[in-house]
Amino acid sequence: QVACTEDMKKAAGYRAVDDHIHSGMVVGLGTGSTAYYAVERLGQKIKNGELVDIVAIPTSTKTENQARSWNIPLGTLDTHPSPDVAIDGADEVDSHLNLIKGRGGALLREKMVAIEAEKFVIIVVESKLVQGLGVTGALPVEITPFCWKRTMRCLLDVEAFQGCQVSATLRQEQDRIYVTDNHNYIVDLFFKEPIPELVSAARQLIDIVGVVEHGLFLHMADVCLVSGKEGIRLIEK
Ligand code: A5P
Repeated sequence: QVACTEDMKKAAGYRAVDDHIHSGMVVGLGTGSTAYYAVERLGQKIKNGELVDIVAIPTSTKTENQARSWNIPLGTLDTHPSPDVAIDGADEVDSHLNLIKGRGGALLREKMVAIEAEKFVIIVVESKLVQGLGVTGALPVEITPFCWKRTMRCLLDVEAFQGCQVSATLRQEQDRIYVTDNHNYIVDLFFKEPIPELVSAARQLIDIVGVVEHGLFLHMADVCLVSGKEGIRLIEK
């Protein structure tokens, strides 16, 4: 039995590595406080010799630093184009395994690694499960810094969002504009009700010139490990 949220995150991260990573694999490493534990477990298992011949592709500078601290061998999608598996957290998960990601700012690299991975494994605590996406916080959108106010206006004009209440803020960190690992900005979109027309919304967002990527991860996850007080259960595609 696990008690607190931190224990639940750890249980999910450890279980994902135990169940989905085998020697010889190329592994995408996600970003965030839950993915942290997957990296930790992978590091432990490489260190004690349980896993050999692993190459990991980190999705952020933060994860890269953690992986380096464990001496996990690293690659990129250029050296290793087809990861066997990617393990990552999520901000929201709906019953179809559609996700919101990027509240930690790493959505671009996370999506690039996830779409190339043979299997995309999500690890969350049960409070991340929602009926409709967009209800517990922001939908992050990574944009180019150039004329960001114009791009932010375009985000609010997305056709799929007409008729619902949406607001946008440029992400800040300690009174400065937040800058991603890719030297871009993030606009956080807030919705009063679940995001309508997810597929259209995703397409219309990426069609805006100035948008680099958005945090809707639709039909990408293969399995979600949901960690709760009673243990871990699986939601599969
Ligand atoms: C990072 O950009 C995000 O996509 C995270 O993967 C996501 O926010 C989940 O993070 P936590 O596990 O810390 O909640």
